[in-house]
Amino acid sequence: MKRYHVTTFGCQMNEHDSERMKGMLDSLGYAEAPGRDQADLILFNTCSIREKADSRFVAHLGEAKRVKRERPEVIVGVGGCWAQSVKEEVFARFPFVDVAFGPGQVHKLAEFLVSDSLTAQGYFEFEGFTGHLPAKRAHGHHAWVQISVGCNCVCSYCIVPSTRGREVSRPAGELIAEVQGLAADGVREVTLLGQNVNSYGRDLPREQRTTFAELLRAVDAVDGIDRIRYTSPHPKDMREDVIRAHAELPALCEHIHLPLQSGSSPVLKRMRRTYTRERYLDRVAMIREHVPDCALTTDIIVGFPGETEAEFEQTVEVVEEVGYDGAFTFIYSPRRGTEAADLPDQVPHEIKVQRMQRLVEVVQRRAHDRASRFVGRTLDVLVEGPSRTDPSRLRGRSRHNKVVNFTGLGGPGELVDVEILEATSQTLSGQESILSRAAG
Ligand code: 5AD
Ligand code: SF4
Repeated sequence: MKRYHVTTFGCQMNEHDSERMKGMLDSLGYAEAPGRDQADLILFNTCSIREKADSRFVAHLGEAKRVKRERPEVIVGVGGCWAQSVKEEVFARFPFVDVAFGPGQVHKLAEFLVSDSLTAQGYFEFEGFTGHLPAKRAHGHHAWVQISVGCNCVCSYCIVPSTRGREVSRPAGELIAEVQGLAADGVREVTLLGQNVNSYGRDLPREQRTTFAELLRAVDAVDGIDRIRYTSPHPKDMREDVIRAHAELPALCEHIHLPLQSGSSPVLKRMRRTYTRERYLDRVAMIREHVPDCALTTDIIVGFPGETEAEFEQTVEVVEEVGYDGAFTFIYSPRRGTEAADLPDQVPHEIKVQRMQRLVEVVQRRAHDRASRFVGRTLDVLVEGPSRTDPSRLRGRSRHNKVVNFTGLGGPGELVDVEILEATSQTLSGQESILSRAAG
């Protein structure tokens, strides 16, 4: 039996795509290898969002080159966003690569493997949903559901529209059938995935048109699904119906990831985000009004071209004001083919690093303040497995998407009550409430 090894970089969409890649390979009769040295097929699912993502992957690729020198019959494949962004150039730069494919061409990998092709092949059309392929899920209780692919935004810093193409939604009926199948399989939590989830459905034919809020309702109605998450929404498309859904639908979690990118309206304009600082803060106010305890997380870029000290300060102010439960902060990284890469006034690296340090300090302080509100409360925690730092304890996630390390007896996939005793900016710590277990 032939064996494969897949390394995944980048976002949750890539994790999803890798699960589908593995599912497809299993259905072709392959099995998963524990490491690259045991594999007949070495695959990389790549990311290109920032320069660091590129360079991390290139280091791993060196490993594949070594394996291929020792065992020339091994097939090396490169999929995902980096592959899409360089296309055929991949073969000139890395002659030991046998097959390369973009995010919309995962199914072509199967075609390549069953053909007798002796020459390297590249597949870079935007045509398929990986969501149609069989999946090999990493966790029994959790599943990704790809609701759309591609992105119609033109954010000036972002490579994704060029790597994942125009937005295409999957029909709601098909998605609900998929979620029903997952629930029957024991899945309790689903994460709906799209590059811009809340513009879901606008491209569907009139008779199939469904809004994102309607889709959430239909998923909530599926028996056995206790938790629904989604990522990522765009602030410009964050409507009241979706926010209300968080208050009304029992399974929809109290957590919204709402990427800010910058707290300065002029910077947002140069980023082509199509909202202002005020409009963003209005959305936050609406969330707080309808779902007061909602956790809010965000993405922020520092050092966007032309970002002045005063503009950066505006971002810090928004972080202070909103009080995020967590934030991913990134140093701006010019990406090939994007508008911002050619803007004048690129910010020097030392200034970017200094700003990042200042921002992280505020993000962590505010996240810690926010996490403190959970101390003394009992939270509903979905058990994932042993704690990473102390295997005698358990690790799980609250509905607010906080990692909770705790002492208790729950098994993976179980929902348990945990009394929270301590909080840091990143994690919560507590003990399973035995009373509820005895009663339940
Ligand atoms: N440089 C730095 N960060 C970026 N992101 C996207 N493109 C870039 C870039 N060129 C960040 C954004 C986005 C997250 C996934 O990555 O914050 O929301
Ligand atoms: Fe995901 Fe963007 Fe990286 Fe592609 S480039 S894998 S969409 S984070």
